[in-house]
Amino acid sequence: MRLAVNIDHIATIREARKAREPEPIAAALLAELAGAQGITVHLRGDRRHIKDRDVELLRQMVATKLNIEMAATEEMTGIALRVRPDQVTLVPEQPHEITTQGGLDVVANRAAVIGATRRLREAGIRVSIFIDPDEAQVAASKEVGADAVEINTGGYADASPSSRAARLAEVRRSAEAASASGLEVLAGHGLTYFNIGPVASIRTIEELNIGHSIISRASLVGLERAVREMVELLR
Ligand code: PXP
Repeated sequence: MRLAVNIDHIATIREARKAREPEPIAAALLAELAGAQGITVHLRGDRRHIKDRDVELLRQMVATKLNIEMAATEEMTGIALRVRPDQVTLVPEQPHEITTQGGLDVVANRAAVIGATRRLREAGIRVSIFIDPDEAQVAASKEVGADAVEINTGGYADASPSSRAARLAEVRRSAEAASASGLEVLAGHGLTYFNIGPVASIRTIEELNIGHSIISRASLVGLERAVREMVELLR
């Protein structure tokens, strides 16, 4: 299973001081050297961490796969068409949320998602949609023409011990449904060194997007070691 490292929180530290460091581009290169097979950033409407210059420089420097998470808006679609990441992940976005709250409701936002997906794919950019583990959302993602879905593992990660198995089963069922319909299956949100095991054993999931836990560990033990330790857990 591949690991894509979300480096947003390197930029969060930089923005805490509105300073030049730490440099997200350096983090991306170190993560790649340590075995990451993709780099993910979320370009938010409020630019609270990752900025336009970051995605432009990352496009020049990332040698693996650059994935930009974004809302399906006109502004963001335009930026993606200019920057040309390898992949765009369409996510819902609320201005004051601390992190992404749940998957995109593809059924309710069909028109916006179809429009953005078509324009991005015509430009040769793969489109993944971040969805909750729900088979109706899997079917809608297939129908709007996405290449992949990223199944939200946040419910599993936050579950109480008594409901954790049920939340994991939802992730597994959705991953199997997506894979059976020909979608590439990714997953992420809330994954840590301690809860990754059961998700890493779901065979239909090809790639995980992990940010907070890796950057947190990196702040104590260094980024290369933190990435290597997560890569080991996905083997
Ligand atoms: N996937 C998506 C769509 C996200 O929005 C995020 C958080 O930015 C992640 C994965 C990574 O989540 P975490 O930081 O909890 O690992």
